[in-house]
Amino acid sequence: MTDRNQALFDRAKALIPGGVNSPVRAFKAVGGTPRFVQRAQGAYFWDANGQKYIDYIGSWGPMILGHGHPAVVEAVQKAVLEGFSYGAPTEREVELAEEIIKLVPSIDMVRLVSSGTEAGMSAIRLARGATGRKKIIKFEGCYHGHADALLVKAGSGLATFGNPTSAGVPPEVVQHTIVLEYNNVEQLEAAFVEHGPEVACLIIEPIAGNMNFVRASLPFMKRCRELCTQHGALLAFDE
Ligand SMILES: Cc1ncc(COP(=O)(O)O)c(C=O)c1O
Repeated sequence: MTDRNQALFDRAKALIPGGVNSPVRAFKAVGGTPRFVQRAQGAYFWDANGQKYIDYIGSWGPMILGHGHPAVVEAVQKAVLEGFSYGAPTEREVELAEEIIKLVPSIDMVRLVSSGTEAGMSAIRLARGATGRKKIIKFEGCYHGHADALLVKAGSGLATFGNPTSAGVPPEVVQHTIVLEYNNVEQLEAAFVEHGPEVACLIIEPIAGNMNFVRASLPFMKRCRELCTQHGALLAFDE
């Protein structure tokens, strides 16, 4: 049988760098052939070979009700008849913002963006703007999108700068990014002793989906919260 996933991947690679439209999905890093989704319903999707899978991705969150829930399909169909996209404000954005704020009591305001990369970039810019500081702390293995300042891996020691993980990112651009080991409380404390007053924010995946759902330990998360508060840095959760 022809492997249609492989055939589609070969076609994609000739047209799209790495054959994917988000760098983190590039299969060069992990090997194998990606599944090209043909359709999805409820908790399942089917790939280009017609193979059925339980969908543990859920479009990274938005498909919380499963695929093709009748109420969602009806609302989407009704909405598209009024136009797809306008490039101008709409009442629905205001309604969505109100709904999010109502559901999450700690949220005062929201900025809706199109990708996780933009969300990470915006959070860091906001933190730097609000604190007037330059440095950010991130953790090895956590992915926050493909903004230049975040494409960085740990240097040889705490005092050294991180190294860019992608061609096209000059070392100067990541000089304010401190990369630490996930779940390493000692290293976290040492970083705040050394850089505390310069840290604008600490950004973290509280459940690290990009390194096989490694769980953050409770003492580690507590120290993240406490040290940020103590040093006037912001704490950004990228989930
Ligand atoms: C935790 C996290 N942050 C940010 C991103 C980047 O999102 P996007 O590919 O939409 O730019 C991802 C993507 O996988 C992610 O898992």
